[in-house]
Order: sequence, then structure tokens, then C-alpha cells
Amino acid sequence: MSGSGHLIRFFLNDKLVEIDFNASAGLKPTTTVLNYLRSLPFYKGVKEGCAEGDCGACTVVVAEVQNGKLVHKAIDSCLVFLPMLYGKQLITVEHLADGKDLHPVQQAMVDENGSQCGYCTPGIVMSLFGIYKNHHHPSREVIQDALTGNLCRCTGYRPIIDAAESACSSRGWDHFSLAEANTIRLLDELNSGKELIEIHTSLQQYYKPFTLADALECRRLHPEALITCGSTDVALRQTKKKELLREIIDISDVAGLKFLEENIDDFRIGAGVSLENLLQYSKDRIPALYNILKIFGSLQIRNLATIGGNIGSASPIGDTLPVLFASRARVRLQSTEGVRFLNIEDFITGYRSVDLKPGELITEIIIPKGSPEQIIRSYKVSRRKDLDISSVSAGFSMLAVNGTVSEIILAFGGMAAQTIRATKTETFLTGKEWNQAQVGKAMDILHHEFTPLSDARAGADYRNLVARNLLMKFYLESSDHNI
Ligand SMILES: Cc1cc2nc3c(=O)[nH]c(=O)nc-3n(C[C@H](O)[C@H](O)[C@H](O)COP(=O)(O)OP(=O)(O)OC[C@H]3O[C@@H](n4cnc5c(N)ncnc54)[C@H](O)[C@@H]3O)c2cc1C
Ligand code: FES
Ligand code: FES
Repeated sequence: MSGSGHLIRFFLNDKLVEIDFNASAGLKPTTTVLNYLRSLPFYKGVKEGCAEGDCGACTVVVAEVQNGKLVHKAIDSCLVFLPMLYGKQLITVEHLADGKDLHPVQQAMVDENGSQCGYCTPGIVMSLFGIYKNHHHPSREVIQDALTGNLCRCTGYRPIIDAAESACSSRGWDHFSLAEANTIRLLDELNSGKELIEIHTSLQQYYKPFTLADALECRRLHPEALITCGSTDVALRQTKKKELLREIIDISDVAGLKFLEENIDDFRIGAGVSLENLLQYSKDRIPALYNILKIFGSLQIRNLATIGGNIGSASPIGDTLPVLFASRARVRLQSTEGVRFLNIEDFITGYRSVDLKPGELITEIIIPKGSPEQIIRSYKVSRRKDLDISSVSAGFSMLAVNGTVSEIILAFGGMAAQTIRATKTETFLTGKEWNQAQVGKAMDILHHEFTPLSDARAGADYRNLVARNLLMKFYLESSDHNI
């Protein structure tokens, strides 16, 4: 392993910040960016509404250099641990105005009467700033998606959307654009020669590798340490369950986990790729995955959350899992000892449990392209369309030869303690004609195949009904194809 450092350096707006956790009373390596900002005298714009990624009152924008360019991402600061800012620029609402004029998004909020309550407005402004830096003339769909993670319960979104439309119709220049070359230079300096960071405090050990080799070595040396990547699941253990996370390996900046590769037969996705990057990538390449990512969390969540984290969580309602089952995806697992490949179905072993050996990391997800005749679809049914947890989710794939089913996978989320295939229904359908009568019989089998839970999200009867109806929906959609 290369040498080690223990200081965290990042830019807070235009000021370089260096944190030594041993010398900074009140800060621990898992202090969230939200709590850090709130602890400072002049950064009270950011608010805590929920501390679990749902309300967006804590939205900030993080800028980082990628391929020589500055990339801006709106994120929920309540879910981000301070060391995750290493080498980046944290932009807060206090820095948007240039000292003389309001920023165009702030001015537009004033002009369109978009400013509502003081609790949510700073977060909303930061989401608009994120749109401003990433889009010129964004569509209403883009604006609405970017505001999904900002919850307003008082009035409505129309004036805010109008503000976004009017602000983002300009050339997109602001005082950040004028400073961009300098910001890139400063961030490049900060990131040059960076080495594994090890933070040891009396209560916590925090390791932040930047290379895959260092990450695997950390895993070897600290097999009990909790891995965190986007931390959208992990952070809740601290913010909601009040756990002290004693030993952490933070792989959020491991460059070797952030690749997207298309081969003749498959797609290879680095485990550390954010779901927002994967959403953009899969749009024209992996439509069933795109379909589910479109309604995954919010933009602030997708900018943090990773595909490796969604698989690693093994939640029974992990939204990418059914479609990965249906696609026969494989998981690449690596340790300093070597590499293993597992089918995703074998990797998920139970309720939030996976076949990950001590020392291993998920490094890659491999999605076969399948044959052009194979039909793959994904579905998510939840109480609300946006920013909600699935009541039932599904990933289906079907290959028919001359109208007869030769291969079918019906994978469900929300129907059992883990993502599960409806194997009885699959067996019934295999070798049958793919027609409405047979699908109707299969729906009856499916209706009794699982005994799902009743919980706050949905009752067991409802879940069974949804599952069977999704099968009919799949049949009807597949009828558009010439089978
Ligand atoms: C507001 C909100 C909305 C959400 N909406 C959705 C939703 O719509 N659908 C959905 O499915 N989920 C949702 N989630 C859950 C969460 O965002 C996802 O599970 C996400 O994909 C987790 O990724 P992460 O990188 O943040 O994981 P982390 O929190 O960093 O890690 C999650 C788990 O995976 C393990 N892990 C992470 N990376 C690796 C790796 N490379 N190798 C081995 N283990 C690893 C960690 O140890 C941990 O156990 C939501 C969460 C929040 C807070
Ligand atoms: S405080 Fe609600 S999303 Fe962070
Ligand atoms: S803007 Fe705060 S509740 Fe509506």
C-alpha cells in the first residue's frame, strides 16, 4: 500500500479547508456535510428536514474535475461523510450571489415568486443551480426530475419550475464560469499525488483509498470494516439508527470502480458508477434498466448511490435487482487473493445478505446483451411515482420461438424477504404458447406462488394482485413484438 495521509482537503466555495479530525473538536470522520456546515457560523442556509435523503432541504452542489471538465452534482448533504468531499468543491447557497447581484437562479426565484418557505427554499435554489450548471433550455421533464428530491408541502411547484425555465434559458454563464479554469487548476493540484487516507480517532477508523489496489488491501487488513460507496444506505445507520460506525472503508473515490464498458456480448459496469451516470448511459443501451433508474430515488440520491451499493444492500425492494435477475447479470468479486464471478441470483443469499467473502469487494456488474428476440421489461409499483420505495417491483425476460416460450424469467421485488423468481409460474409457461389464455392460467399460479408481507407500504393481497397484473402487462407489451 502506498503511503498514508490523514488530512481531508476540499474547497468550501472558494476557501481551501483542511480538516485534521484529531485536532478538530466536534468533528468525526462520519460527521455529515450537513452537520459540518451547520456547525460553522455563516453557513446556515442548508437545513435538516429529514436526515434521510427525502426532503432535499440539505441540498448542496459538489463540483469535481472529470476528464478535464468541472462536473456539478446536486446531493443531499445529510448523507455524505466529510471525507467524501476530498479533492472537490462544495458549493453552498451562501456563495451563489457574486457579492453584487443575485445568481440568475436566485433572481428567477424572486421574479417568478418561487420563494416559499425559508426551510426548503435554499435547497430548492441549489437544485436549480445544479440544473443551471448542467442544462441549457432544459425540458420540463428534466426540471421536474431535478426537483423530485425537494419536498414542498406548503404550496406548489409551478413558480419554482417557471423560475428554473427562465433562469436556465440564458447562456449559463455566472461567476463560477468565469472562475472555472482556476477552479479546475486548484482541484487538480489538490488531487495530484493523493494517497490512501487513514483517519484514526479514539472511536473510529476511516480508510479512504483512491485506487482499487489500495481498496483491496484495506479490505484484506480490515475485513470487518463497513464498506461504503454512495452511503445512501450506510449513512442512515448513523443518522436514523444512531449507530456509531466504528470502522469504515470509503470506496466512493476509487477510480478503478467507475468505468462503463460496452463489449460485443455484454456491458460491464464498475460497481462505483453512480446511478445517475448509469441512467444516462443505459438510456439507448439497456432500456429495461433505464426504465427502472428513471424512477429511482431522486437526482440527489442517484448522484450519490451506486449500482454496487444497490446490489450490496440486497434489499428485498432493491430496484435494480429484478431487472438484473431477468438479464442474467453476473457480479465480479475481487480480493487480493483473486477474482470470482457469481450469477446475481447466487450472490443474493437472503434478506439483506450476500455471498461476499471477507476481503472481497464487488468490482463489476456484467449484463449480457442477450439475443435481439429476448424481451426484457422492468416495473415498479409504489404509492407515489417519484422518490418512493417499491411496493412491488419486477424484472421479466422472455424468449419465444415460433410463438412458444423457450425461456422465461419472472423476478420480483417486494414479494419475499429477498428478490425472488416465480419459478412455478416460469415452469408452467415454458414450452407453452405465449398467448392470453396461457398467461391467464399463469397469473392464477403466480397469485399463489408467494406469501408476501403486509406492511405500511402494501398489504399481502394487494401485492399478489399487483404481481399477477404485472405479468399481464408484460404479455400485452410483448404483443407489440412479432413473436
Ligand atoms: C431517499 C432515498 C431514496 C431511495 N430510493 C431508492 C429507490 O428508489 N430504489 C432502491 O432500490 N433504493 C433506494 N434507496 C436505497 C439506496 O439509495 C440504494 O440501495 C443505493 O443503490 C445504495 O447505493 P450506495 O452506493 O449509496 O450504497 P452504500 O450505502 O454505500 O452501501 C450499501 C451497502 O452495499 C455495500 N457495498 C457498497 N458498495 C460495495 C462494493 N463495491 N462491494 C461490496 N459491498 C458494497 C455496503 O457495505 C452496504 O452494505 C434510497 C435511499 C434513500 C436514502
Ligand atoms: S435533510 Fe432531508 S434530504 Fe437531507
Ligand atoms: S417551500 Fe417549504 S414547504 Fe413549501
